[in-house]
Amino acid sequence: MQKDAISIQILGSNPSKLSQYRSQISSLINKEITTQLYNNTTPDLLSLYRDKKPPELLIFLLDDATLAALNELTTLPSASRPALLVIAPDNDKQQMRLAMQAGARDFFTSPINEQELHKSLNKIIFDMRRGRAKTGTLITIINAKGGSGGSFITCNLAHIAAALSDSSAVLIDFDLQFGSQSLNLDIKPQHTIVEALNDVTQLDFDAIDGYMSLHGSGLRLLSTSFEQVVLPGEIIVENLDQLLTLLISHYDQIFVDLPRHIDPLSATILERSDQIVIVVQQSLSHMRDAKRLTRILKSEFNIAEKNILIVINRFDPDSSLHLADIQANLESSVLYKIPNDYDRVANSTNLGIPLYDYARNSAITKAIISLAESLNVPIRAEFKEKSFFKKLFNLKDK
Ligand SMILES: Nc1ncnc2c1ncn2[C@@H]1O[C@H](COP(=O)(O)OP(=O)(O)O)[C@@H](O)[C@H]1O
Ligand SMILES: [Mg+2]
Repeated sequence: MQKDAISIQILGSNPSKLSQYRSQISSLINKEITTQLYNNTTPDLLSLYRDKKPPELLIFLLDDATLAALNELTTLPSASRPALLVIAPDNDKQQMRLAMQAGARDFFTSPINEQELHKSLNKIIFDMRRGRAKTGTLITIINAKGGSGGSFITCNLAHIAAALSDSSAVLIDFDLQFGSQSLNLDIKPQHTIVEALNDVTQLDFDAIDGYMSLHGSGLRLLSTSFEQVVLPGEIIVENLDQLLTLLISHYDQIFVDLPRHIDPLSATILERSDQIVIVVQQSLSHMRDAKRLTRILKSEFNIAEKNILIVINRFDPDSSLHLADIQANLESSVLYKIPNDYDRVANSTNLGIPLYDYARNSAITKAIISLAESLNVPIRAEFKEKSFFKKLFNLKDK
């Protein structure tokens, strides 16, 4: 059984029916299922479950012989009862009432409508997984102007999170028309974000993993394929919302590369983000756009100042636009600087090798590790940037 799989059991009084339902339902939902025989020769259900851990989801084949077991279940406190789905021979009102008292999530009569059963089980499993799910962090990186380096920084932040921390990390390339993250990581996606979004209503937690491409570092990528162009209107906002819920519940860190463009899709992502990183370069026109974007985020999306981080990419200490001017202009005291490094960045992107793998000791790599730390990515101690370096490159001071 998979490490975090839900334990599922079928209980019934008839061995051949039990094994028939087991194989039918197990292939329907593609999960392992155990069986529990219950009749007048077996001990009562509560002592059975005292000896063996009760399943998390119980599919209950109700008949005269198992009725007593259903009654026993109702005596358990609801928190220690398995999630329950009841299958009965007919629509007997008394039995339905009893099933409800036992907390059944659904009630089916034979012959069973397979499609309905499939839907119901998936929904129960989805809710259970959500109940014990992680609360991953959604970090969105948006550029104030095209060409600022938003995509480059997103790729390397996500790679560093996957490679240098124990977190599970996902990179979503939301540049749906000209996305380049698959090239940056030298990956050819087998499936795309569009497929994931179209199928999301039927996906459970295990299935979403199959839509992503896996990088050697453990980083998962969800993107379009390089040949694909997604047109506006092809994606349903509600599906995007559901996909984000699924990802946040299943992975620790989700990084979104979001090109600057405000529409219902990007609004959904921005509203759900825990942190938004705005990438700018050191010029007056970048400042103007960054200021405007920050205002929009605060006033239209109610995003708190503390959740917006500004990164000055390709920072040049000799530029006539000084850090103090930028701070004053953007009304932000917290600015992070990433140095300019044309050769390393160009080579790393052209080769499809992330910076940490290509030039792990370079100043630019260290600056991105530092940025990851500021975003609360739990970088393992041995990879943490020394404070002296932080002082040199990035920080909350001048
Ligand atoms: N710090 C940097 N030093 C040198 N080149 C950089 C740096 N950051 C980004 N670049 C380059 O700038 C170009 C634009 O970056 P990109 O990430 O595509 O920007 P955006 O996604 O904001 O449009 C790319 O060719 C990238 O390799
Ligand atoms: Mg980009």
